[in-house]
Amino acid sequence: MGKTYNIAVMPGDGTGPEVVAEGIKVLDAVSAVEGFGLDYTWYNMGGEHYMKTGEILPDHVVDELRKVDSIFLGAIGHPDVKPGILEKGLLLRLRFDLDQYINLRPVKLYEGVTTPIAGKGPEDINFVVVRENSEGLYSGAGGVLKRGTPDEVAVQDSINTRKGVERCIRYAFEYCRYRNNKKKITLCGKTNVLTYAFDLWERTFYEVAKEYPDIETDYAHVDAICMWMVKNPEWFDVIVTDNMFGDIITDLGAMIQGGMGIAAGGNINPEGVSMFEPIGGSAPRYTGKQVINPIAAICAAQLMLETLGEEKGAARIENAVKKALKENIKDMGAGRMGYTTSEVGDLIAGYAKNQ
Ligand code: IPM
Ligand code: MN
Repeated sequence: MGKTYNIAVMPGDGTGPEVVAEGIKVLDAVSAVEGFGLDYTWYNMGGEHYMKTGEILPDHVVDELRKVDSIFLGAIGHPDVKPGILEKGLLLRLRFDLDQYINLRPVKLYEGVTTPIAGKGPEDINFVVVRENSEGLYSGAGGVLKRGTPDEVAVQDSINTRKGVERCIRYAFEYCRYRNNKKKITLCGKTNVLTYAFDLWERTFYEVAKEYPDIETDYAHVDAICMWMVKNPEWFDVIVTDNMFGDIITDLGAMIQGGMGIAAGGNINPEGVSMFEPIGGSAPRYTGKQVINPIAAICAAQLMLETLGEEKGAARIENAVKKALKENIKDMGAGRMGYTTSEVGDLIAGYAKNQ
């Protein structure tokens, strides 16, 4: 018997619980064949819990989470809770308190999945975005004066520290080497306007690059990246960028890889506890209907195993997802998969077991 991992599961809101259930179904199938163990501890934080109790994320839960091997998250966000409360109080708090300074988002088009980009296929769309996840415009720095008056002033600062920028860039170079694909890394910035922040990014990028002579470097402004991601996605291997730009370009990335039904991400602390999630959100419209696509959550589980070092298990999940996409599931959209949420989980768990 291999190692046993302690996994905190936070299904969260909306369709989160439905997709998390399928992720766990697949994880259990894989751990059984690969011979490692998964011990789950469930946490019911989220919008419902907040509305019932007023509690978002108690300190003792954060302390417990510091001790687990990994966190598996469904979705955070509730239509009856004012925007910002759960996002900041739960999701961003976990990212910050656990210092998950990398947000790793693969953009990979699998065979059988439709991309809205005409003329591009799986050989063209295969890159990862390394998004800085602990600073930038997300830091909460800034403030407001004379709110609600005609003289109102609102300032929201982008915080970029040498340490924060460098550790993110270094991770991106290491990941690029580990991926061993095109061995190319593109810095996504805005050096023509954000001349303080991206000057720091650019200098750090080219300094760190000297330590990686095997990796080709490139730079593009964020607006141009949006254009190239659609026009020439095959140019990219690893894109590294700040928190806000990373947030925006990864939604574009999700669309070109087939939609939110398949897009997964990891909030990674390479020296600590990481958290994995489908990036699509809570999809309140589809809640409880068994129509939501759980593949994003299953791919998040794959990323989790990869990060835990269970690479064979991760490969099993990816192979199973590929097979299901090639042979069974032709439409990624909620309600259009031709299978229920749970049937998709059964299918992929079965493929993961028998390879
Ligand atoms: C994401 C989400 C979050 C973000 C929100 C929910 C705070 O959009 O994970 O990309 O902006 O980071
Ligand atoms: Mn986002």
